[in-house]
Order: sequence, then structure tokens, then C-alpha cells
Amino acid sequence: MDGAITPDRFEPWPPGIEPAVPIEGYANTFTHTPALAPIRRPATRTEVTGPTELWRKLPCGDDNLAVVGPGRMALGQLIHIAGRILDEDGRPVRGAVVELWQANAAGRYFHPNDDRDAPLDPNFVGNGRIRTDEEGRYGFFTIKPGAYPVPTPNTWWRPPHVHFSVLGPATLSRLVTQMYFPGDPLNLLDRILMSVPDAAARERLVARPIPPAEVGLGWLGYRHDIVLRGRAATPVQP
Ligand SMILES: [Fe+2]
Repeated sequence: MDGAITPDRFEPWPPGIEPAVPIEGYANTFTHTPALAPIRRPATRTEVTGPTELWRKLPCGDDNLAVVGPGRMALGQLIHIAGRILDEDGRPVRGAVVELWQANAAGRYFHPNDDRDAPLDPNFVGNGRIRTDEEGRYGFFTIKPGAYPVPTPNTWWRPPHVHFSVLGPATLSRLVTQMYFPGDPLNLLDRILMSVPDAAARERLVARPIPPAEVGLGWLGYRHDIVLRGRAATPVQP
């Protein structure tokens, strides 16, 4: 990592970007939200600038979740998600480790915690990990996930969404967030998306269509840039 572009400070999030947690009807946000306000302390230069070359510990290369082998493709709408990872000053974060996980086309996760009565897809696990190139670019080939209900007494539905974890340029600058699809009627009813108070910040969680001519035949394209911190930060999503 070039020390000249490695930030030695992080600006705090402006008001309205951080989600208002805990979120009623989403149990994890109660168990994961500290009861006391965080104690703020300045990070040391060592903490914010390293370790770099995170991919040495986190092997990358799984960028195609939809094709698991010759003739073996996941069910669902084939999509391509591409974008850039940017720092708070708009500079590309190269070498960032980008992880993605998601439900299958029926809205079910390939995970023992998800025992909902919806079909599993034998050709879809639903997670991938790659690292950004010199321009901070990443890209995944996958399928559009289905919506799924949140199992609470007054159940509600999560819209189709993709989970992201971005590590870069150092381990302290990790962002865990979610990406949504434009125009989905469930977006405005989603308690996780709507937990972000600022409307412009919520918009930064919604992908944009890529013109079909820019994507390979058969893949519906979505562009989604992710900004780590700063005024234009992509909000955290639990
Ligand atoms: Fe999810």
C-alpha cells in the first residue's frame, strides 16, 4: 500500500448517517447495541494505517456466485454488481477486501440459522470475496436475492438486499453495510434501510442500473459505489 494515499485520520460521521439502533422487530440490533455510549479515543497512526495487504490473510477470488461449475448455475435473475470503494476524500481504496453474502432467489440463506420453509438452491451458497484493483474497483456476478420475512410476532419483510463487508485500507476501517435494489416497493417499508435518518444517506444504499451495453449479455447490471466514512459515507447497516 502506498503510504502517500493511506489516510492517517478518519473524520466522524456527520449526523443522520448512522442507523438509529436498536431497531424494533429486529432482535439482533438489541443484543448487538451497547447500552452505554461509546468512549471515543483517538486512533493511533499505526492503527489507522495498518495492517495493509489484508488479502494475504483473507484469500480472495470468489467473484462469481452464480456459476458454481460447468453447466451448474444458480436459479434466479443473473445480475452483475460493480462499483468502486472510495475513501472519505473520494480517492479509490485499492487492495480493499470486499465480501458479499446474500439469500438465494427464494429469499433463503444457505446457513443453519435459516430454517425457513423456502427452497434451498443446490447451486447457490451465496458468499464471495474479492479485492479491489488499482482504481478501487470491485465486481461480482450473482443472482438477485429474494425478499424474506423477519420472524417476529408482527412479521415484516426484508426487501431484496445484498450484505457487504469492506476491509480497507486497514482493519480498523471496516464497513459492514447492505445494498438495495432501485424501485423495490419493500424498500420504503424496510426497518433496516429506514433506520438511517438522512434521506440522502439512504439513497447511497440503493444501487443504480448499469446500461445493458456495458454489461455482458445475460447479466442485469447494477452499479454500487461504497464510500468509507466522511460526508458522503455509505451508512452502516446491521
Ligand atoms: Fe439479509
